[in-house]
Amino acid sequence: MTDTNAHLGLGDKKVDLPVRKGTIGPDVLDIGALYKNTGTFTYDPGFTSTASCESKITFIDGDEGVLLHRGYPIEQLAEHGDFLETCYLLLYGELPTAAQKKDFDHRVTHHTMVHEQMSRFFTGFRRDAHPMAVMVGTVGALSAFYHDSTDITDPHQRMVASLRMIAKMPTIAAMAYKYHIGQPFVYPQNNLDYASNFLRMCFAVPCEEYKVNPVLARAMDRIFILHADHEQNASTSTVRLAGSSGANPFACIAAGIACLWGPAHGGANEAALNMLQEIGTPDRIPEFIARAKDKNDPFRLMGFGHRVYKNYDPRAKIMQKTTHEVLAELGHSDDPLLQVAMELEKIALTDEYFIEKKLYPNIDFYSGITLKAMGFPTTMFTVLFALARTVGWIAQWAEMIEDPQQRIGRPRQLYTGAPKRDYLPLSKR
Ligand code: CMC
Repeated sequence: MTDTNAHLGLGDKKVDLPVRKGTIGPDVLDIGALYKNTGTFTYDPGFTSTASCESKITFIDGDEGVLLHRGYPIEQLAEHGDFLETCYLLLYGELPTAAQKKDFDHRVTHHTMVHEQMSRFFTGFRRDAHPMAVMVGTVGALSAFYHDSTDITDPHQRMVASLRMIAKMPTIAAMAYKYHIGQPFVYPQNNLDYASNFLRMCFAVPCEEYKVNPVLARAMDRIFILHADHEQNASTSTVRLAGSSGANPFACIAAGIACLWGPAHGGANEAALNMLQEIGTPDRIPEFIARAKDKNDPFRLMGFGHRVYKNYDPRAKIMQKTTHEVLAELGHSDDPLLQVAMELEKIALTDEYFIEKKLYPNIDFYSGITLKAMGFPTTMFTVLFALARTVGWIAQWAEMIEDPQQRIGRPRQLYTGAPKRDYLPLSKR
């Protein structure tokens, strides 16, 4: 909806830029016709002032520390719902009725097995490969196994691909883990809920009975909810950009996984735990705080800071509570890493540097301690993030495909290279 115009003067040219209003959040200037009317581009590396799309899925108020999915606060979804309910909400826009929930859970559950040939595909990787490398490869390969859901112009195929990915991601993630540690793959078991099934596929072995701990299953499910979607972050924008060319959804999600892997994004949970381990004891915290503040030292406090949140990440608060619940259940409440984390948080939150730059703990700060206590190696942390974020990627991808204004994403640039010059033969250079 166009409500008013902003006026821009460029030399002797004057242009009106429509101002568009969302339901909540900042207005946006629609600059779509700027180049056509003025021959000028906008310049915004890192997209700090750029809305790349219109979306109805997730809203973040970074100053207030608010995160809403389809209007519902993350705190309420994490407290009262389960992950598959959040998946339904992200995909369809509304919370499911009891009948819709039952049907959706059934449909996801009955897509959890992967083509048997996939297990042979895994064995092509080195055992010591990082599980995220295996995830990028195997998820990308899904399009080679499920051709019948790669036609993006067919709404039915799009939905089948979406359900397949949500359902198969835990199976593939668990296979990546099992392959990494040299244990046999464990097939999914359809009478278990999503999180319990995943824990079983990761931690059961054929020679022993495995009983799912309900406290850990609930914590796992909540961790999935907290990571389900986060607006137009780097990996989601990657998925949208890949999808804008018409690429199939499996390939797009593989691109998202590759982007997520970086330590500034999803890789931060692994980096945060490594950092806590390196700090080791609370008396070493001041040394690391000093390094984080030193302009000449590339070190950053991992799990701190966020492009959008200039307040406490609401997910981090829920994550912190979950950490305490898991550690209490496992009898690890005196985990030295937790002591280091709590002390580090206390010091950082009162330090002038962090206050001035509005650097608060983000979700990755506490998730690592929880996942480690649950038995996951650090290399699996980002894999779990990818598993949970798959639904967000898929919902955003589907929204884009269904948007009648959708066109291939094609940013421009400020060119500062050599101007036109003539080729010199080798003998004259
Ligand atoms: N430790 C120390 N200083 C920091 C940190 C940090 N963790 N984060 C930002 N700063 C400083 C930075 O040096 C800069 O200072 P100055 O203005 O003096 O140059 C200022 O704060 C702004 O930082 P920026 O890099 O310009 O901010 P950004 O919005 O581009 O980056 C970020 C956001 C998340 C990449 C960054 O805060 C960071 O690297 N944090 C650590 C990694 C991390 O925890 N990432 C997980 C993000 S949450 C999970 C997810 O959604 O992926």
